[in-house]
Formats: sequence, structure tokens, C-alpha cells
Amino acid sequence: MARGTPTALLLLVLLIHSFGRHHLIDASSTTIINHGVIRQPLSSTIVSAFREAPAFRNADECPHGDRVHVAMTLDANYLRGTMASVLSILQHTSCPENVSFHFLAARSEPYILSAIRSTFPYLDFHVYQFDSSLVRDRISRSVRLALDQPLNYARIYLADTLPLGVSRIIYLDSDVIVVDDIRALWEVDLAGRVVAAPEYCHANFTKYFTDAFWTHPALSRTFLGRRPCYFNTGVMVIDVQRWRAGGYTRMLEFWMMVQKQRIRIYQLGSLPPFLLVLAGNIKAVDHRWNQHGLGGDNLEGRCRNLHPGPISLLHWSGKGKPWLRLDSKKPCSVDHLWAPYDLYKSSSSSLEE
Ligand SMILES: *[C@@H]1O[C@H](CO)[C@@H](O)[C@H](O)[C@H]1NC(C)=O
Ligand SMILES: *[C@@H]1O[C@H](CO)[C@@H](O)[C@H](O)[C@H]1NC(C)=O
Repeated sequence: MARGTPTALLLLVLLIHSFGRHHLIDASSTTIINHGVIRQPLSSTIVSAFREAPAFRNADECPHGDRVHVAMTLDANYLRGTMASVLSILQHTSCPENVSFHFLAARSEPYILSAIRSTFPYLDFHVYQFDSSLVRDRISRSVRLALDQPLNYARIYLADTLPLGVSRIIYLDSDVIVVDDIRALWEVDLAGRVVAAPEYCHANFTKYFTDAFWTHPALSRTFLGRRPCYFNTGVMVIDVQRWRAGGYTRMLEFWMMVQKQRIRIYQLGSLPPFLLVLAGNIKAVDHRWNQHGLGGDNLEGRCRNLHPGPISLLHWSGKGKPWLRLDSKKPCSVDHLWAPYDLYKSSSSSLEE
């Protein structure tokens, strides 16, 4: 992605002005102006790459004084996924005007912001710069390169990042499609817990950690007194105040430090620290809210079918992403459920000439 032209800086400044309060992307970042060569920005291609979504209006019965806050990461590589997720949320909620989006981005890429603004002209959104240096030294290599991107760890820092007024947040990965009213997930009773998410107690929990972990006398006691179950961190409802008060970010960082500096205790990316701190202590949500694994396994991304039962959220976790498989003309059958939310217009524009 091109960055660092005077035009980019100007655009960024304009964006910050027009977006108001919480747009914390650092406009003074010198990396933006010290880029000697003026390169042709990719802005025009990215900004015009997506169709404009329709304006979604509230139904009559929308409550006053209750906004739904959704957090996602924002990255050029997953932008198509993010756009589709946002569209799916707006399309299926009865109160689309009362949903606010909080995007965490690793770099200030004004083109991405204007792409969102032009695709969703009515969207209430805020962008925060996630400081990758917070985690860079804490990340250890996992089984899949994509899991090692600093932005993948941004969810650990949500509570430090969001404005104080946001006391609850729904965190979503960029490869989800919501096919139900997000408000139903928002209103889940956390019953004093910090995180709510679908829980999978039949999954083999042992395999998320190494033998070195389970045979270590002190480490293996971590789960003593709780019944840990796997949960997927791509869909979480978080009580931000409780998270802050309980110092959960520091607890997760502790385990990342153990992994990095002491002993290799897991193979995946940002998931295991969440399991170490929270598994067995979360509020279980109906499985309909995370039909996960549709991207296939972590190594090859083989096709997978839907699990039986009602579905409110589809999640292409795993290696394969629906937009890539559709583009390669080798989609899995579940990818056709993603396609209706695709706002990317390359395929249609190639037909125009
Ligand atoms: C929700 O949207 C309605 C418009 O339908 C608006 O009047 C109300 O103030 C909004 N509530 C909040 C908390 O944003
Ligand atoms: C769970 O996984 C571990 C480690 O891969 C394995 O040793 C164990 O037999 C599995 N347990 C079950 C019940 O499948």
C-alpha cells in the first residue's frame, strides 16, 4: 500500500477534521512527510474499488440511549472482508443507525478510511492506531504466518484503546458475516463475567497446549479449579470496564512473555493466551453466534461444511478466505454464503467494457 505523500497527509488531515472526536490516527507522524519520493498513491483504486452500500434506516422500535459498539481490525489485506462484515451487520439489525464501529489499524492509511467513508457514507465509525510495538517483542512464531501479524493481537488491547464511554464491546474478526440482529448478541447477560462467547466443551482442549506445558509442574496447574473449554476469539462480547479493572491485558501479556522467553507452551497465535486466562470463566453464548472454521484448517484451508443448527454468524476462520477462493474460481460451497455481501466491484467492472 502506498503511504507517505503530501497528498496523503492532506487527505489524512481532512479526514481527521471531518470525522470528529475519536479519530486518533496520528497525523503528525513524520514517516508520512519524510518520504522523499512522491509516489502515485493507490488511493483512487482502493477508494473506488467498492460499491456504495445503501443507507440503512432504523425501525420504529429502536431504543434510545443504547448504542451497539463493534470493534474490528482494519487492514488492506482484509478490507474486502471487513466491508462485507459491516454490510452484513447493518443489513440484519433493526437499528443500523445505532451501531458504532471501532476500527483498529496498524498504520495510518487514509485511503482505507476514505474507502470506508465512500462505501458507507452514513456509518458511525472511529479509527484508532494500534501501536504494533506493544506486541512485536511478545509475538512468537505460530503455525501460520497470518496469525503472527501484530494486528491479530490488537484485541488484547481493546480496553486500553477504546474511549472510556464504551463500556461493552463486541469484537469481530474481519472474516465473519452476521445474518441476525447483532443487538441480540449485544444484549447477552454477562452474569459478572468479563467475556461472553460460544464455548466448545467437547473440543479436545489438551491439543491447544504443548506437552511441555502439560508436563510442567507449575504451568499445568493453571487450569486447576476450572473446567476449561475452547472458545474462538474471533467473536467476543467484552465487558470493557471489568477487563480494565481486572488487568486482563497484563495477564495475557504475561503468558505471551512465558511463551516467548521461557518455554514454548502453544502453537497458535493470539488464541492460547486468551484460553490460559479466561477458559472456563467465560459466559457461554449460543453456538449460533459463531459458526467457525469455514476457512478450513490452518495449514491447507480445505473446504468444510456447516454444522447443523441455527446460524446467526458465519466465520471463515482457518486458512482459506472466501474472497480469495471465489476469485480463484475454486470456491467452497460455504463461500457462496459470503458472496452476497461482497462490495468489491472488480468482477462487475471487468464486464463493463
Ligand atoms: C438511535 O437512533 C435513533 C434514530 O432512529 C436516534 O433518535 C437515537 O438517538 C439513537 N440512539 C442512540 C443512543 O444513538
Ligand atoms: C486430546 O489430544 C491429546 C494431544 O493431542 C491426545 O494425546 C489425547 O489422546 C486427546 N484426547 C482425546 C479424548 O481425544
